[in-house]
This record gives sequence, C-alpha cells and structure tokens, in this order.
Amino acid sequence: MKVLGIFGSPRRGGNTELLLEEALKGAEKEGAKGERLYLSDFTITPCKECHGCDNTGNCIILDDMEKIYSKLLEADIVILASPIFFYGVTAWAKALIDRSQALWARKYLIKDPSLGKEGKKRKGFLISVGATKGQKVFEGAILTVKYFFDVLNAEYAGELFFRGVEAKGDILKHPGALQQAFEAGRRLIYEDRIKVRSH
Ligand SMILES: Cc1cc2nc3c(=O)[nH]c(=O)nc-3n(C[C@H](O)[C@H](O)[C@H](O)COP(=O)(O)O)c2cc1C
Repeated sequence: MKVLGIFGSPRRGGNTELLLEEALKGAEKEGAKGERLYLSDFTITPCKECHGCDNTGNCIILDDMEKIYSKLLEADIVILASPIFFYGVTAWAKALIDRSQALWARKYLIKDPSLGKEGKKRKGFLISVGATKGQKVFEGAILTVKYFFDVLNAEYAGELFFRGVEAKGDILKHPGALQQAFEAGRRLIYEDRIKVRSH
C-alpha cells in the first residue's frame, strides 16, 4: 500500500508538517510505504488554462509536476496537508491541484478507464490548521480538496483540523493532536472508511 504525503506548507517544521509526518508514521506502522512530497522543494508553475491537455491528458508545461503526476497515480492513499491561507489551501498546494487539470482531462474528456469507475480506487485524507477559530475556516479547502480527490478516484476518507494554531509548533499545545494524526494514518490503512473530525 503506497501512501503519498503532500506537504503543502512552505514552512518547514511547521504545524501541518508535524501532523502529516505523524500520519505517515502511523500508516508506515501498519506496513504502508510512505512517500513524502515537500512542495516547497518543487517548481510547479500554475495552470495556464491553455487546454493543451484536453486531447492528451498530458500537461504541456515542463517542470517538476512531470514527476508528480506518476506519484499521484501510483498512490493508493493521498494525504494532503495544508495550512489555511486566506480561507483556502496554500498556493503551493493549489498549484499542484490546478495542474491536475491534465488528469481531469484524462478522466472526463478522454475517459481514460484507469481513472473511471473500473479504475484503481484510492483514498484521500485532508489535514489542515488555521490561526483563527471561525466556523467556516476550513470550508474553502474542503471543497477544493474534495474536487481534487475526485479526479484521482480517491474517496474523501476523512479530515483532521485544528483551529487556533498559528506560530510554528503551536500544534504541540493541542493535547493529543499528534496522536490523533498518527491514529488517522494507521486507520487509513486498515479501515475501509474512516471519519475523523477534530476541531
Ligand atoms: C499568507 C497567510 C494567510 C493566512 N490565512 C489564514 C486564514 O485565512 N485563516 C486562518 O485561520 N489562518 C490563516 N493563516 C495562518 C496559518 O494558517 C497558520 O499560521 C498555520 O498554523 C500555518 O501552518 P504551518 O505551520 O503548517 O505553515 C495564514 C497565514 C499566512 C502566512
């Protein structure tokens, strides 16, 4: 079982990184093979909306995203971790998501069976934190990420959110947060469906 962890914060050692690292360790404890993608190490140009992928399902922009498409498709489970930036995911994560338009074209325009109903089923899990305590702080990110997971044939298997987390390491003040992330990672491997919500 391959688990791809997408680290969507540019702040290394920050709150989402700590949570995702624990989730990956939990998955690895159950025998999964974890792969870590620190997006700030990659150059991912935003989608240019050129429709160059419409007929081929391949993006014409040649940059680090070329390496990432195969990782997305090889994964059985994708865990995306992003802090909330202006009520959404970070630009780092959004660039990757928008460039997945090539996979959207593959699935919905070209009707590639590997991304259709008979194709590989994946699971997707979202981890996020925000500094504020607003009721709707994660809603934008949830909508974006659900649509992204849909393109990958990934069921939205759960989410782990923490509010009131701002400075680097603030997540450590949330009792049990890292443990919850570890458990979520474990359960993603051995449970068909998991629903985690933490606020
Ligand atoms: C550009 C920017 C925009 C932000 N926008 C929001 C926001 O809309 N809502 C919120 O609750 N926190 C917002 N934050 C705070 C971050 O979500 C918070 O500091 C988080 O803990 C950072 O996670 P990290 O340590 O994984 O990078 C913003 C931070 C930055 C730098």
